[in-house]
Amino acid sequence: MTDTADRYVAAIDQGTTSSRCIVFDHGGKIVAVDQREHRQIFPKPGWVEHDATEIWARTQAVVAGALAKAGIGNDRIVALGITNQRETTVLWDRGTGKPVHNAIVWQDTRTAELCAELGGADGQDRFRDRTGLPLASYFSGPKVAWLLEHVPGLRDRAERGEIAFGTIDSWLIWNLTGGVDGGRHVTDVTNAGRTMLMNLETLRWDPEVLAAMGVPEAVLPEIRSSAEVYGTAVGQLAGVPVASALGDQHAAVFGQACYAPGEAKNTYGTGSFLLLNTGGRPVPSKHGLLTTLGYRIGGEAPVYCLEGSIAITGALVQWFRDQLGIIRSADEIEPLAASVEDNGGAYVVPAFSGLFAPYWRADARGVVTGLTRYVTKAHLARAVLEATSWQTREVVDAMHQDSGVPITSLKVDGGMTRNGLLMQHQADVLDVPVIRPRVAETTCLGAAYAAGIATGFWNDLDELRAHWREDARWTPSMDAAVREREYGNWRRAVDRSLGWLQ
Ligand code: G3P
Repeated sequence: MTDTADRYVAAIDQGTTSSRCIVFDHGGKIVAVDQREHRQIFPKPGWVEHDATEIWARTQAVVAGALAKAGIGNDRIVALGITNQRETTVLWDRGTGKPVHNAIVWQDTRTAELCAELGGADGQDRFRDRTGLPLASYFSGPKVAWLLEHVPGLRDRAERGEIAFGTIDSWLIWNLTGGVDGGRHVTDVTNAGRTMLMNLETLRWDPEVLAAMGVPEAVLPEIRSSAEVYGTAVGQLAGVPVASALGDQHAAVFGQACYAPGEAKNTYGTGSFLLLNTGGRPVPSKHGLLTTLGYRIGGEAPVYCLEGSIAITGALVQWFRDQLGIIRSADEIEPLAASVEDNGGAYVVPAFSGLFAPYWRADARGVVTGLTRYVTKAHLARAVLEATSWQTREVVDAMHQDSGVPITSLKVDGGMTRNGLLMQHQADVLDVPVIRPRVAETTCLGAAYAAGIATGFWNDLDELRAHWREDARWTPSMDAAVREREYGNWRRAVDRSLGWLQ
């Protein structure tokens, strides 16, 4: 075992709106954090892009910032873990290290038509058996296909082996380990599983799906486990083993210590993602959920999850702030919503990128319904928050139907869990306790844990589980009749959003 005195693990969380680096000590406590935002690029309605070069620059800056705040050098860091926004797609030139196009972000809907074409007579579930996923613009494979079609000359260059594809984990690891000077082109099973190109059973790229989407093997990274040393960093982290990679939601599963089948967590960020550990076998979904990897530690057997992905939750609060200007900071929504008793009859369905789980409807668009002259901005604030808890209720119901096991409590994390009004409503509409851990940065923590396990800084999952401490708990108190009436209203509001785009 590694000497742990005055030694630390660093984790990079490259998210949809910002990048952060956190330094953790051996007790799993946060020593220092640095965070920076990057630009959101909206070239057309429904299109969302990021500049991958900017993301790499921000990542380097937050690593430098976190080390400076911690007052330590790279010699004290025993391992680096990576976690990232998933599905966001980068193609870059292996020779120059430059991206050939802006990254296409997971929320981008430009491939909706392509997905419908790919489904053909088999429809949305054509590749579900192999990949665990419905054909939807959310996933990376169709984004790669779109880029190969639309960037002039790219397909030929890709077939000649000059182009690399990666989700953000791959892009960062390649750059961290040397870039054009020998950077490692790898990804982990959790990220690969979100491309729609990986076979869930073999954990390898699936030749039939690659052929159907026209993605050449020459662009693909090597698929590795979530916790192993992929390479050694150069530059400011010179000599530090890059020792974990997990998509952010999978990292949160790991950081929340959901190591046993039946344990679930919900992370409230830009969207919300509820993952339930289903153990060593992939469980197919019949109710609109995704079958996905939980994590894989080195050569051990993989752990699978069912996932309910909700595209827009925290982003609805941002929209309420930035696009409508009703509040000036996200924190203002809680007192505004708390100034009224209820939603005044108003419901907001934030189908800005269509609706994800359990509907997978690209033709849905946002609606605000139930309006009368009685409704004030405070009622709308409540309706905005309630949209998060009702969408979560829908995926919890789907999970119950798929797994046959009711969820008896829910571990939560992410920025919106600071909002006590929302968390109480969440407990009320699920009718189970909602529990937040002391370290709310579970995404970074999970990446740090995996990197620490890979390098012997921590011994095993029992040691990690012992770090988990409850910080806050909300218990349900809503009358059952009120809950059912409100849920019925929510479902009618969702019906109005479906099929809006023709
Ligand atoms: O699948 C998308 C998800 O990974 C994005 O997470 O927290 O960056 O919004 P976040």
